Amino acid sequence: MHDVMPSMSREVNHLKRSVLRDLLALAVDPTIISLAGGLPASEFLPLDEFRSCLETVLKRDGAEALQYSTQHAPLQEWIAGYMGRRGVRVGPEQVFITNGAQQGLAILSRLLLDPGEPAVIEQVTFPGIQQVTAGRGAQMRPIPTDLESGADLEALEAAFRQETRPRLAILVPDFHNPLGVSLSAEKRALAAGLAARYGVPLIEDDPYSELAFSGQPLPPIKAYDEAEMVFYVGSFSKILAPAVRLGWIIGPASMTPQITVIRESLDLESSTLLQRAVAEFYARDAFGRHLQPLRAANQERCETLLAALEEHFGGLARWSRPSGGLFVWARFPQEWDTFALFPRAVEHRVAYIPGAAFTLDGSQRNAMRLNFSNLRPQAIREGIQRLSEVIGEHALSGA
Ligand SMILES: Cc1ncc(COP(=O)(O)O)c(C=O)c1O
Repeated sequence: MHDVMPSMSREVNHLKRSVLRDLLALAVDPTIISLAGGLPASEFLPLDEFRSCLETVLKRDGAEALQYSTQHAPLQEWIAGYMGRRGVRVGPEQVFITNGAQQGLAILSRLLLDPGEPAVIEQVTFPGIQQVTAGRGAQMRPIPTDLESGADLEALEAAFRQETRPRLAILVPDFHNPLGVSLSAEKRALAAGLAARYGVPLIEDDPYSELAFSGQPLPPIKAYDEAEMVFYVGSFSKILAPAVRLGWIIGPASMTPQITVIRESLDLESSTLLQRAVAEFYARDAFGRHLQPLRAANQERCETLLAALEEHFGGLARWSRPSGGLFVWARFPQEWDTFALFPRAVEHRVAYIPGAAFTLDGSQRNAMRLNFSNLRPQAIREGIQRLSEVIGEHALSGA
């Protein structure tokens, strides 16, 4: 036996173990009330309908449904129609199906960005976005995000204007993870305009827009993209089920061959069985039927969380008031440290994600992300009650 390790690539050195994944593991302990995860409500996952879709596909398509396959054309067509209804005119051949939005982001970062090159992300953002930029050794140019109005586009322009142009920028336009905020229509148009003016590809990561509590989502940034500088990344995780692991990229048609090659280097293709079952689900017109009760439940849960925060933390903390999505972002007095408090929270059988998990520099230590979608209202109230006990102890100890 040799006492040597294989040497690893430079890219691996940049990747951080996801705190989020570690914390999510807690969500499975039934004695812990987890406000930590980003899971859609389990009781609203379309179990019966999806089982029936799988049966239909297996009966109808037989062994073909279990084979290697190309991208499933009926699903590409459904996605193209859906994007069309949102103001993005694309042909089905321009829809590239991925294994979830995260794979879409990983593919695009490999397409557009080399290690050492500049990339723009939001200062506070989903760790998966950090992984495909800082995690690939990019030179980072983070921009601030306002809790009321979303990404700071003046800062975006300043980051674009520097002598070395960034190779890409990534924004989450709707019900931001973790901040809960959305961009106005004006800001979407402006963002597309900046990408065009400075020639910087803008990746629009949009898993949440269909989770508006009421009304129609705004058109995506891609709808304003006349210069073909915006890459839209969609996902079925939150609008159907995370376990289908399917999403899509809409980019310039001319780049599909390169996207295909990168994707094939990763995992060849998405499961044709699941693509067919999802296409069957939407062929049954199940889109609105599935989302309606989910949106209503999310809204009730969000209102419960906001009321509980007001009851226990009014005057002490500030928080976002989202009109959709899955998350509320709460900020406590500057000197508090939600990371340090976390073990005590777990002792009190409640979990959240410390704010520092969403920044590259470990700032936002006084903030936390709270999920409202995967707990019933009573559990949300109990969870915030437990949190107030943790924080009460903290205040008493003068820490
Ligand atoms: C902003 C954002 N982008 C991408 C993803 C990954 O989504 P998917 O499950 O489709 O890979 C998530 C998941 O929570 C997310 O919040």
